[in-house]
Amino acid sequence: MKLLILNGVNLNMTGVREKDVYGTQTLEDINLELTNRFKNCEFEFYQSNIEGDLCGRIQCAEKLGFDGIVLNAGAFTHYSYALRDAIASVTVPVVEVHMSNVHSREEFRRKSVISEVCRGVICGFGKNSYFLAVESFNL
Ligand code: DQA
Repeated sequence: MKLLILNGVNLNMTGVREKDVYGTQTLEDINLELTNRFKNCEFEFYQSNIEGDLCGRIQCAEKLGFDGIVLNAGAFTHYSYALRDAIASVTVPVVEVHMSNVHSREEFRRKSVISEVCRGVICGFGKNSYFLAVESFNL
Protein backbone atom coordinates (compact mmCIF):
# COMPACT_ATOMS: atom_id res chain seq x y z
CA MET A 1 0.00 0.00 0.00
CA LYS A 2 1.45 3.32 -1.07
CA LEU A 3 -0.20 6.44 0.34
CA LEU A 4 0.34 10.14 -0.19
CA ILE A 5 -0.19 12.21 2.96
CA LEU A 6 -0.98 15.64 1.60
CA ASN A 7 -1.28 18.71 3.82
CA GLY A 8 -2.35 22.12 2.67
CA VAL A 9 -2.19 25.69 3.78
CA ASN A 10 -0.96 26.45 7.33
CA LEU A 11 -0.61 22.79 8.29
CA ASN A 12 3.15 23.42 8.54
CA MET A 13 2.24 25.48 11.63
CA THR A 14 0.77 22.47 13.44
CA GLY A 15 2.16 22.27 16.96
CA VAL A 16 2.88 26.00 16.91
CA ARG A 17 -0.47 27.65 16.11
CA GLU A 18 -3.72 27.35 18.10
CA LYS A 19 -2.46 24.47 20.23
CA ASP A 20 -5.82 24.17 21.98
CA VAL A 21 -7.38 23.31 18.60
CA TYR A 22 -4.61 21.42 16.77
CA GLY A 23 -2.49 20.02 19.59
CA THR A 24 1.18 20.40 20.46
CA GLN A 25 2.71 17.91 18.07
CA THR A 26 4.24 19.14 14.85
CA LEU A 27 3.36 17.80 11.42
CA GLU A 28 6.75 16.08 11.38
CA ASP A 29 5.87 14.34 14.69
CA ILE A 30 2.57 13.15 13.23
CA ASN A 31 4.22 11.95 10.02
CA LEU A 32 6.84 10.05 12.03
CA GLU A 33 4.11 8.42 14.09
CA LEU A 34 2.36 7.36 10.88
CA THR A 35 5.56 5.76 9.63
CA ASN A 36 6.06 3.92 12.94
CA ARG A 37 2.45 2.76 13.24
CA PHE A 38 1.91 1.52 9.72
CA LYS A 39 5.07 -0.39 8.89
CA ASN A 40 3.45 -2.17 5.96
CA CYS A 41 2.58 1.12 4.30
CA GLU A 42 4.84 3.18 2.07
CA PHE A 43 4.28 6.88 2.69
CA GLU A 44 5.14 10.06 0.91
CA PHE A 45 4.57 13.25 2.88
CA TYR A 46 4.02 16.61 1.26
CA GLN A 47 2.85 19.95 2.62
CA SER A 48 2.34 23.17 0.71
CA ASN A 49 0.77 26.54 1.27
CA ILE A 50 0.29 26.84 -2.48
CA GLU A 51 -2.96 25.58 -4.00
CA GLY A 52 -1.45 24.77 -7.39
CA ASP A 53 1.28 22.60 -5.81
CA LEU A 54 -1.36 20.47 -4.14
CA CYS A 55 -3.31 20.14 -7.40
CA GLY A 56 -0.10 19.05 -9.15
CA ARG A 57 0.57 16.35 -6.54
CA ILE A 58 -2.97 15.03 -6.88
CA GLN A 59 -2.71 14.95 -10.67
CA CYS A 60 0.55 12.94 -10.52
CA ALA A 61 -0.60 10.48 -7.86
CA GLU A 62 -1.85 7.89 -10.32
CA LYS A 63 1.29 7.93 -12.44
CA LEU A 64 3.45 7.64 -9.31
CA GLY A 65 1.58 4.52 -8.21
CA PHE A 66 -0.23 5.79 -5.14
CA ASP A 67 -3.14 3.66 -3.92
CA GLY A 68 -4.68 6.59 -2.09
CA ILE A 69 -4.34 10.10 -0.77
CA VAL A 70 -5.02 11.36 2.75
CA LEU A 71 -5.71 15.06 2.34
CA ASN A 72 -5.94 17.78 4.96
CA ALA A 73 -6.40 20.79 2.71
CA GLY A 74 -6.66 23.24 5.62
CA ALA A 75 -8.67 26.35 4.75
CA PHE A 76 -8.55 25.42 1.02
CA THR A 77 -11.19 22.83 1.97
CA HIS A 78 -13.78 25.55 2.25
CA TYR A 79 -13.32 27.35 -1.05
CA SER A 80 -10.88 25.70 -3.47
CA TYR A 81 -12.76 24.59 -6.57
CA ALA A 82 -9.34 23.99 -8.14
CA LEU A 83 -8.58 21.29 -5.56
CA ARG A 84 -12.02 19.82 -5.99
CA ASP A 85 -11.54 19.57 -9.76
CA ALA A 86 -8.07 18.03 -9.28
CA ILE A 87 -9.53 15.34 -6.99
CA ALA A 88 -12.38 14.70 -9.44
CA SER A 89 -9.89 14.30 -12.29
CA VAL A 90 -8.12 11.26 -10.82
CA THR A 91 -9.28 7.75 -9.94
CA VAL A 92 -6.99 7.51 -6.89
CA PRO A 93 -9.27 7.65 -3.83
CA VAL A 94 -8.89 10.68 -1.58
CA VAL A 95 -9.87 10.71 2.10
CA GLU A 96 -10.52 14.19 3.50
CA VAL A 97 -9.14 14.75 6.98
CA HIS A 98 -9.41 17.46 9.60
CA MET A 99 -7.91 17.43 13.06
CA SER A 100 -10.61 19.66 14.49
CA ASN A 101 -14.34 19.06 14.34
CA VAL A 102 -15.06 21.59 11.61
CA HIS A 103 -18.80 21.29 12.29
CA SER A 104 -18.46 22.59 15.83
CA ARG A 105 -16.51 25.71 14.86
CA GLU A 106 -17.16 28.83 12.78
CA GLU A 107 -19.93 28.70 10.18
CA PHE A 108 -17.54 28.96 7.21
CA ARG A 109 -15.79 25.72 8.24
CA ARG A 110 -19.00 23.69 7.95
CA LYS A 111 -18.84 23.90 4.17
CA SER A 112 -16.35 21.69 2.34
CA VAL A 113 -16.20 22.02 -1.43
CA ILE A 114 -14.11 18.83 -1.70
CA SER A 115 -16.16 16.31 0.35
CA GLU A 116 -18.42 15.44 -2.57
CA VAL A 117 -15.50 14.13 -4.61
CA CYS A 118 -13.70 12.41 -1.73
CA ARG A 119 -14.16 8.78 -0.72
CA GLY A 120 -14.84 9.75 2.88
CA VAL A 121 -14.32 12.41 5.52
CA ILE A 122 -12.76 12.09 8.98
CA CYS A 123 -12.71 15.03 11.34
CA GLY A 124 -12.50 15.92 15.00
CA PHE A 125 -10.02 13.35 16.31
CA GLY A 126 -6.87 15.45 16.40
CA LYS A 127 -3.83 13.65 14.98
CA ASN A 128 -5.85 10.43 15.19
CA SER A 129 -7.86 11.69 12.21
CA TYR A 130 -4.79 10.91 10.06
CA PHE A 131 -4.40 7.43 11.60
CA LEU A 132 -8.08 6.63 11.05
CA ALA A 133 -7.83 7.80 7.44
CA VAL A 134 -4.87 5.49 6.80
CA GLU A 135 -6.73 2.61 8.47
CA SER A 136 -9.66 3.23 6.13
CA PHE A 137 -7.48 2.09 3.22
CA ASN A 138 -6.97 -1.31 4.84
CA LEU A 139 -10.70 -2.04 5.16
C1 DQA B 1 -8.32 22.02 9.50
C2 DQA B 1 -9.64 22.77 9.62
C3 DQA B 1 -9.70 23.96 8.67
O1 DQA B 1 -10.93 24.65 8.81
C4 DQA B 1 -8.56 24.91 8.97
O2 DQA B 1 -8.57 25.98 8.06
C5 DQA B 1 -7.24 24.25 9.04
C6 DQA B 1 -7.13 22.94 9.67
C7 DQA B 1 -8.19 20.89 10.54
O3 DQA B 1 -7.30 20.06 10.41
O4 DQA B 1 -8.97 20.87 11.51
O5 DQA B 1 -6.23 24.83 8.67
O6 DQA B 1 -8.27 21.41 8.22
